[in-house]
Amino acid sequence: MRLTADEQAMLDGAEGPARQRAMDLLVRYGEALGAERLVDTNNVCATVGATMPFLRDYCAAHSGGLDAVFSEFSLDSPDVVEIPKVKVYSCHLQQGLDPAHADRQGIGPEVVKVYRAGEAFSGRIGVQLMNTCTPYQIGNIPAKGEHCAWMESSAVVYCNSVLGARTNAEGRESAGAAMLTGKIPYWGYHLDENRLGTHLVDLQIDVKDTVDWGLLGYWIGEAVQEQVPVLRGVTHVPNLARLKHFGAAASSSGGVEMYHIVGVTPEAATLEEAFGGKRPKAVLKYGAAERRLALERLNSTASDRNVDYVMLGCPHYSIDQIWEACQLLEGQRVHENCNLWIFTPSAIKRIADQNGYTKLITDAGGFLMTDTCSAVGRVLPKGTKVAAVDSAKQAHYLPAIMGIQTWFGTTAECIQAAITGRWSGG
Ligand code: F3S
Repeated sequence: MRLTADEQAMLDGAEGPARQRAMDLLVRYGEALGAERLVDTNNVCATVGATMPFLRDYCAAHSGGLDAVFSEFSLDSPDVVEIPKVKVYSCHLQQGLDPAHADRQGIGPEVVKVYRAGEAFSGRIGVQLMNTCTPYQIGNIPAKGEHCAWMESSAVVYCNSVLGARTNAEGRESAGAAMLTGKIPYWGYHLDENRLGTHLVDLQIDVKDTVDWGLLGYWIGEAVQEQVPVLRGVTHVPNLARLKHFGAAASSSGGVEMYHIVGVTPEAATLEEAFGGKRPKAVLKYGAAERRLALERLNSTASDRNVDYVMLGCPHYSIDQIWEACQLLEGQRVHENCNLWIFTPSAIKRIADQNGYTKLITDAGGFLMTDTCSAVGRVLPKGTKVAAVDSAKQAHYLPAIMGIQTWFGTTAECIQAAITGRWSGG
């Protein structure tokens, strides 16, 4: 790999051992990928805390603190080095718990301590504690063409496709190294040619509601895997929530990191622009049969209609989604055999607090939570056997990760299940 003078200096240790190890990791990573060089980035989204389930045991067994966690898990360092301040704008993604609801989530005080230590560490090195899978909902909106280094598949696909910024799906290691160096290998979706469409998807039915977009995304992900679909025939321009659900679903059933919607997304003003003048590798049709197939797949783990948990907010809810849930809940009570947890970024929860939505949810017997979700934090109400969700991504992961039955449907169907304790959706 060709390095610039500043990159070589970091690799030689001129800026201390942590940046030296970070550069060494990026060079090894870039060479393995066949990248010829690195690119500057000033926008990194990653996790540096240690509250994720796989790290909780490590922290219990080691006393080195967050410098040790960063050294081993973000820098692949053989020894513990002191982590200096980040070089570029860096944001923290979701955590493994909501400290305000730790008890309810079955998380002990020792993990909350790790959370607090992570907060102090992030503050010290300059990682902004957004604590969400949707940083683009709370102010991190990179410009079109900006080179980023983001983790979290649902955020990555949004960043590339909706914002027109450029990132690959980074890991904890490469994103951690990018924070310290302001560099990331120049390959994949940083390059113009890899951003072009590969598959044309003709929509033959109206795709309108959030649930429709989730189903479409789930079907497309399975169909194209990690390629770049181009949607033609959209009759209703999707809003943020629908784009968020669509991308999250497509990156769950497949590995979609980039898509185009002709006439909607920023690199697809025309079909020709989306494909760069090339012919699609395949043309797919999405109609009623395909929609039904996706719905059946997403409900394939569920048979018991007694629902004991309703989870909303995957990806983390926007304020208008919270408002929608509140309108459905108003004047109702969550069933005594059921729990309702709604997840959102803490910055959005502040607005919900001010607007009285948090109280409305709590008065109905539900909870508005932040920072995490059930699949990622592995946090469920005690004894949960059957869940209901309005997110294709969560419906994909919950049964696999937590071994519970999961129904998928509209937000209204989910709220109805929370109130009655029964699934009456499709
Ligand atoms: Fe976010 Fe969890 Fe879904 S981190 S995208 S709410 S799986």
